[in-house]
Parts: sequence; C-alpha cells; structure tokens
Amino acid sequence: MEQYVIKGGNPLYGEVEIGGAKNAALPILAAAIMTDETVTIENLPNVRDVNVLLQAIEQIGARVERVNEHKVKINGSFIRDLTVDNEFIRKIRASYYLIGALLGKYRKTAVALPGGCDIGSRPIDLHKKGFCAMGANVDISHGLFQVEAEHLIGTHIYLDKVSVGATINIMMAAALAEGKTVIENAAKEPHVVDVANFLNSMGANIRGAGTDVIRIVGVQKLHKTEYSIIPDQIEAGTYMFAVAAAGGDVIVTNVIPKHLEATTAKLIEAGCEVEEFDDAVRVISNGKLRRTQVTTLPYPGFPTDMQPQMAVLLGIAEGTSTVTESIFENRFRYVDELTRMGANIKVESNIAIINGVPKYTGARVNAPDLRAGAALVIAGLAAEGVTVIDDIHYILRGYENLDVKLRELGGKIELVTSEKELQKFILKVS
Ligand code: EPZ
Repeated sequence: MEQYVIKGGNPLYGEVEIGGAKNAALPILAAAIMTDETVTIENLPNVRDVNVLLQAIEQIGARVERVNEHKVKINGSFIRDLTVDNEFIRKIRASYYLIGALLGKYRKTAVALPGGCDIGSRPIDLHKKGFCAMGANVDISHGLFQVEAEHLIGTHIYLDKVSVGATINIMMAAALAEGKTVIENAAKEPHVVDVANFLNSMGANIRGAGTDVIRIVGVQKLHKTEYSIIPDQIEAGTYMFAVAAAGGDVIVTNVIPKHLEATTAKLIEAGCEVEEFDDAVRVISNGKLRRTQVTTLPYPGFPTDMQPQMAVLLGIAEGTSTVTESIFENRFRYVDELTRMGANIKVESNIAIINGVPKYTGARVNAPDLRAGAALVIAGLAAEGVTVIDDIHYILRGYENLDVKLRELGGKIELVTSEKELQKFILKVS
C-alpha cells in the first residue's frame, strides 16, 4: 500500500528540475527497436510506464542496458518474438507503439490491446485505419491486436480526429514502408515532433512534424543514434500549478517555455506572475487566484493532461470558472474527491462549473488516474490540514520523485507504505 500524505498550507520556494517527457519517451523506446544497431537514449524519465515498456522490449528479445536511471542503450537485433503480451503491458496505453515499430520492421506483430488510465473510451480505430490503408491486415481478437502486411505501402491517410497515438504509430510504420506516406490532420504535440526528430536521427525521412501534414518517405533500414528526450511539459505544468495553488516563488528548470505557452497564459489569467527564460520559467503566486475559463484542445491548445490541475486551481479562485474537456469524456472523476476537500464543482456533460471556495480542507481521497492524482496532490499542498491520497500507483506511472521534488521546495509530503509511517508523519507535522 503506497500513499501520499500531505500537510498543506506551506508555500513553495526554490528550484525544481524537470525530467524527460514520458509521452515522448514511450514511443521513442518503441522506435529504438526498429534498427539492429545500438541506440542510446538520454533524459529518460524513471517512471513506471517507461519501466514496464522496457521490460516488454526485453521480453521479446531486445537487449536493454540501463546505463543509469536516465540513460538506456537498446539493441533490437536479438528480437525473436513478435508477440507482446504480459499482465503489465496490458495495463499501459503505450504498448500500442510496439505495433507501429514491429509492423514497420518485421511486417508482422501481435500486441496485447492497450489499457492505460480510465479517462474515456480510448478507441484505436484510427491506428487500425492507418495500418490498413498501408496494406496491412488487422485482426483484433483474443485481446490481441494482430497485424500483418506482405507489402507495407506508403499512402495518404486522413485522421478523422487529431490523435497523438495514431499519428506517431503510423509515422513509425511509414518510416520503413515502401514509398511516401502523407498523414493529414496529424497531431502537432511537441512529443510528436520529438519522435520524428528521433526517427530522422536514425536515418528516417520525415518532414512536417509539428504541422498538421506529415510527409514520410520510407527508407530500407534505420541506424544507430544517440538522442536526448525533450523535457516533460506536463510535469513542468504540474509544478507551476502547484506553486500557483500553494503560493510561493519557484523556478522550474530544464523546460522549453514555448511548449508551456497555453499553461503559462492560464496561470497569468488566474492572477500569477510568470517569467520566461531560455530554458526555465519562474512562477510567483500570492495564493490569491482569479476566475477564468478553459477548454482543452490538441496542441497548441490547453492540454487535456493539465485539465485536472487547472480545475484544482480554479476551485480556490474567486468567482465562478468553467473547465470544458473536449478530448476525453471521462476526465472529471476527481471531482467527487475534490468535493470531499470542500470544493464546489458541478459537472454538466463535458463542462465543470466551478464555484471557487476560500480554501480546501485535508481529507482522505483516491487518485482516479495519473493527472487527476497529481491534481489532488496540488489540492493537498494548498489545503488546510492533512490529506491522504490512496491509489498513488497511477501517479507513479508518470511522475518521478514527485514527493522528493516537492519536499525540496518546502512542501510537507511523504510517500508512506504503512499505517505506522502515516501516523509518524502526522505526528511530526502536527
Ligand atoms: C496520448 O494518449 C497520451 N498518452 C495521453 O496522456 C494524452 O492525454 C493524450 O495523448 C492527448 O494528448 C500517451 O502518450 C501514452 P489521442 P492517446 O489518441 O494517444 C480519440 C497522460 O496522462 N481517438 O491523442 O491515447 C480519443 O478517444 C495521458 O499522460 C480515436 O477516436 O490520445 C481522444 O478523444 C493520459 N481513435 C482523441 O482521439 C483512435 O484510434 C485524442 O486521443 C485514437 C484516438
């Protein structure tokens, strides 16, 4: 049993360093097996989803050498098994990236259907549409996504909905297909660009990543590379919002401020000061927050992965705010938990109507998914009294040393594994 226990009410001060982006790392690790040469990846976040994917890669035969916590060498020349299935891989969404990678390289694979955070129905029809358009046969049965192509041929693919996963997956397969693939209505997220840059550093020919039309000319094979993953914009945003809610003055380092524009704009609207540097942002907050409105949208819009953190902020802002979720239909599951901490939020369809309250009060709550869990940590830091968060395994999927980094900023938070440790913390802080 792992829990976070937090004594709120302490402003945050100092500097926090952001790690590599989880949602770039996962497809990059999958793409690393597309060559038979050794690939070195740096700035790898040491989080559970990454480690599960590395295990799966190892299980099919690839050599994985963990040089240190944040650096790995991968050699895909020893792959002998094209079926990826184990109880862990079924729990992570990013398992689907192995489909694009293995289909591209071997023209055949079977991968257990993805799980991941329960934030909506999360179909994979667009991935399937892309692979089929390139000439592959797809069969989804017995919990496996099975795909095979005698010839994988480049083609025009229009994505009916902007999808990060489908864009990246098709891009990976197309990198080793015959001829030219054009993906229209592609996702423009920074991690899509990072994966394209990574593949290009391996010899792929991908142009236009970061715009809504990506053009890929297939090559015969890919080669070794050394690559450093971009900083995690969502981890950065989470610390920025923690400072906003708890008050304080923090410099968030190792970020690309351009990737944080939507997050920064909303913080300023809510009454915080944000200064931008080359590779850092400084957030200053006196804890007095103003109402605003936000709608989640594909990049460069406000990220759905920051939506729960935003709602937590607005829950203690003066006035009535609204948060509209336009990407996933089930991303308000934290509202009941936050209500237990004193929030006044009503959800109508995909809109949360938030009437700001002066403060949260500590309570025992459950993390319903990764980002909602991180949002509850923010609420706990801002709250009066002690908050205990259960089910933090979700949070550990995507945040490295969250408790350690927050403690270094002056937050009173601990990861405990027993009732005894929990009581010890409460005694210490009371
Ligand atoms: C990625 O999920 C991220 N996951 C999510 O991160 C993130 O919330 C999401 O992109 C949006 O930015 C990983 O990178 C592992 P999508 P993904 O395909 O790829 C619909 C986190 O907390 N859709 O961009 O699954 C879908 O239902 C998480 O780190 C289809 O209809 O998201 C959604 O409405 C959770 N058919 C929209 O597209 C498909 O085949 C966008 O989803 C695929 C998606």
